[in-house]
Amino acid sequence: MELREAIKGRRSIRKFKSTEIPRSLLEEILAEARWSPSWGNTQPWELYVITGPPLGELKRLNKEKSLSGELPAPDVPMPEKWPEAMKGRYGELGRIVLDTLGIPREDKEARNRYYLGMTGLFDAPCLLLACVPRDLRMEYAMLDIGLIVQTVCLLAHDRGLGSCIMAAAVLYPDLLRSIAGIPDDRRVVVGVALGYPDDAYPLNNFARPRAKMEDFARWVD
Ligand SMILES: Cc1cc2nc3c(=O)[nH]c(=O)nc-3n(C[C@H](O)[C@H](O)[C@H](O)COP(=O)(O)O)c2cc1C
Repeated sequence: MELREAIKGRRSIRKFKSTEIPRSLLEEILAEARWSPSWGNTQPWELYVITGPPLGELKRLNKEKSLSGELPAPDVPMPEKWPEAMKGRYGELGRIVLDTLGIPREDKEARNRYYLGMTGLFDAPCLLLACVPRDLRMEYAMLDIGLIVQTVCLLAHDRGLGSCIMAAAVLYPDLLRSIAGIPDDRRVVVGVALGYPDDAYPLNNFARPRAKMEDFARWVD
């Protein structure tokens, strides 16, 4: 696949078929993703690949925690405030998602059902958890993780797989630690749901808005 086609064609997939991803394919993708850049070539990432029964257990307990109202305690704090322009775009995404699913804003129950689906990782047959050493300064480690995660998503797309980068997958890191055997001295940064996309699902098809190039490029010449 052309790089440009892959960059534009990759999109967040929010419903997956139950088909398992062959281990050899995941290995290929991860081996290629090693060529991602990182600060001083430190390659600070560790990717946990969770599938099969442990993933089923993770989804079940994740859902249970969310339903019980347990407060999320992610290793990387969630943003609490957004500058106006970003707040607007975030709100717009929420509106598009609800409209696409035909959920009226005031239908709290249907909204909650959707968010609960997120705790079940949109039925993905595979979850990657991207981790970094806890004692590493966060800022550049986050950048390095972003680079490898996007590389994985593009490589997955090239192989016909869908992905969704998910902060919602790492809200309860102690659960992830116990299921995946992640040591305490690692920070669980973000999850990536992976699987074959359910192409007919409306949320896998809506038109995604983007700011114009002129809105973010500043020319100095
Ligand atoms: C750090 C990060 C965390 C994200 N967390 C979630 C999430 O928890 N749930 C979700 O549905 N999408 C999540 N997304 C996906 C974004 O909503 C998506 O990338 C954005 O709307 C742009 O759409 P696109 O990926 O289809 O181009 C996340 C993306 C990033 C980069």
